[in-house]
Amino acid sequence: MLIRASTRLMQSKKRENMSNKNVVEIQNLLKQFPVGGGFFTALKDVNLQFKTGEFSGLVGPSGSGKTTLLNQIGGLDSPTEGSVNVLNMDLVNASHNQRADLRKTKMGFIFQSYNLLPVYTVFENVELPLILNKIESKKRKELVEQAVEWVGLTDKLESRPSQLSGGECQRTAIARAIVHKPALVLADEPTANLDAKNSHQIMKILVNLNQELDTSFIFATHDEKIMEYLKRIIHLDDGQVTQDDIIEKPKMSL
Ligand SMILES: Nc1ncnc2c1ncn2[C@@H]1O[C@H](COP(=O)(O)OP(=O)(O)O)[C@@H](O)[C@H]1O
Ligand SMILES: [Mg+2]
Repeated sequence: MLIRASTRLMQSKKRENMSNKNVVEIQNLLKQFPVGGGFFTALKDVNLQFKTGEFSGLVGPSGSGKTTLLNQIGGLDSPTEGSVNVLNMDLVNASHNQRADLRKTKMGFIFQSYNLLPVYTVFENVELPLILNKIESKKRKELVEQAVEWVGLTDKLESRPSQLSGGECQRTAIARAIVHKPALVLADEPTANLDAKNSHQIMKILVNLNQELDTSFIFATHDEKIMEYLKRIIHLDDGQVTQDDIIEKPKMSL
């Protein structure tokens, strides 16, 4: 009994430790873009940590630096100064290939414009990350079917993007983003092209995936409908973090 109780305690401690681990650590981040003869400061004095399993959002007006910051976390652009550590990789000192490998194996991306390949079916679009990760065909089929079921598109597996609604396209993109069970998903304005009903549906799917897979999510958004679901809201203004709030009781369902 005692052994079992202590094993349970150890397991719960392990979970506790895991959920306290930082998936992202940003220190003194400065990002400047060259413009004309000078430069434009897009991010300044950014210090942020994101823990495993967080469902958080970068919120701010257009031009406040949300996409620039997501690009830094995704290792798609390098900082002018400061450090960005993602899933235990120091992105500043990592090679181009190491960053690409991290994205491929451990990260998922969701964009406003879905970015689906038009000549591919839903199945083929969702399968892509698994092909890149060299997963064998039988396992690929199993994982694709599971991901497509999570987003409620099993009856559309053979459809192409032109035969889908905007909401269905975004659900396909979500399945593609999570099919390889990434540790971290970055979503840039994922509901910007969707109506209210589809936006809520998308957010409910993502809340469920966050809970089921323990995947961490970071959104960039100025959509009020997204904010209702977030467990942490980080406000950006003119490239600086102005507020960072934990939301005790986010909306979980309609
Ligand atoms: N490659 C670039 N060159 C110059 N300026 C840029 C570049 N990328 C972004 N910016 C500028 O940085 C600011 C923040 O942009 P962005 O991160 O896209 O904002 P948001 O996603 O919050 O709308 C904007 O003023 C934008 O014009
Ligand atoms: Mg943006």
